[in-house]
Amino acid sequence: MPQDFSRRSFLQLSSAASAALAMRIVTEPMLAFGQRPKASRDAIWINANENPLGPCASARDAVAAITPQGGRYRFNLTEEFVKQFAQSVGVTGENVRIFAGSTEPLHYTVMAFTSPRASYVTADPGYEAGMHSAKSSGARIVKVPLTKSYAHDVKAMLAAAPDAGVFYVCTPNNPTGTLTSRSDIEYLLEKKPKGSIVLVDEAYLHFSDAPSTIDLVKAGKDIIVLRTFSKLYGMAGLRCGFAIARPDLLQKIENYGGGNPMPVTAVAAAAASLKDANLVDERKRINTANREETFQWLDHNGYSYIPSVSNCFMLDTKRPAKEMIAAMAQQNVIIGRVWPAMPTYSRITVGTREEMEKFQAALQNVMNGKVTVGTLCPDPRTIDGFVLPS
Ligand SMILES: Cc1ncc(COP(=O)(O)O)c(C=O)c1O
Repeated sequence: MPQDFSRRSFLQLSSAASAALAMRIVTEPMLAFGQRPKASRDAIWINANENPLGPCASARDAVAAITPQGGRYRFNLTEEFVKQFAQSVGVTGENVRIFAGSTEPLHYTVMAFTSPRASYVTADPGYEAGMHSAKSSGARIVKVPLTKSYAHDVKAMLAAAPDAGVFYVCTPNNPTGTLTSRSDIEYLLEKKPKGSIVLVDEAYLHFSDAPSTIDLVKAGKDIIVLRTFSKLYGMAGLRCGFAIARPDLLQKIENYGGGNPMPVTAVAAAAASLKDANLVDERKRINTANREETFQWLDHNGYSYIPSVSNCFMLDTKRPAKEMIAAMAQQNVIIGRVWPAMPTYSRITVGTREEMEKFQAALQNVMNGKVTVGTLCPDPRTIDGFVLPS
């Protein structure tokens, strides 16, 4: 009967829709802008760990030059770049997979290696995207507090999850900007349960002096390393990232997604960025200078923060941090979100020197009581109509 048919297809459709919703990939911009207060475009945006410098000059030129070829897939361009990238990190092409950013391989890795029987183990506070993916896979989510020095507590992570599928280690950590030592990562690899993997997110590594763990891929360990061009290279809006691992681990990730042709603009920009021999040092120097100047100012004024080696840090606002976010927004300075484990802290992204000066002036106004609490956007969990999973 037509009526039955339409009811059945509605049910099928709605269950397909809820399955699709459950698989939704959650990204840093969704999380960052999901809590954004009302603000104008000309505000100071230091809430999403973006790089205010954007792509380097040669990357911009490369984008302009490749754009006329944007009607073609240009797979060979991607293949050449993958080889270039692999070489730059000391592995071969079979150890790397390219994606439009590192969000995708993060999600696919969690989907591939966690399940209701294989838990997802992460730091608290830590980058939340993988936890949302673990909800999709039905895995138990194990949040383990950082140590006193804000490193991942690898011993506690191991003890908390003998059933682990994925140990997620973000170093420097988002949001604290603090490192987990290589020896701790090696310890985790040595002691972890059989069949599990260590997922090392090196999104912010370039800002620090820490060594990469990519050589552990070469050594054949159960490790997947994530890299992105969104941070130091300033390509968050252009989208390029990598998973680096043993071929058999990459194969498992690929069962969940990948292989989508890359935007030629992203490939051209990333290839040009890698060729710029001074870029990493130069940008690291700029970020370090702006971050350390901000820390000196905070010290001088007696304000508390967690020292960081990254492009973000946690500021202790000494009040519910949401109040500080609103009061700063009143002054057109948009600072980052709050983690439940640290309710008085807000994550501050290191911006340009001018941006950090405006941040300082606005913060001083709130701390002096010249500006008081403002209003947050009505539903801080929505972003452009998309309701964030709770
Ligand atoms: C720790 C971490 N990993 C991964 C990502 C994903 O970035 P993208 O998809 O832009 O490469 C982000 C974004 O902010 C991040 O903070």
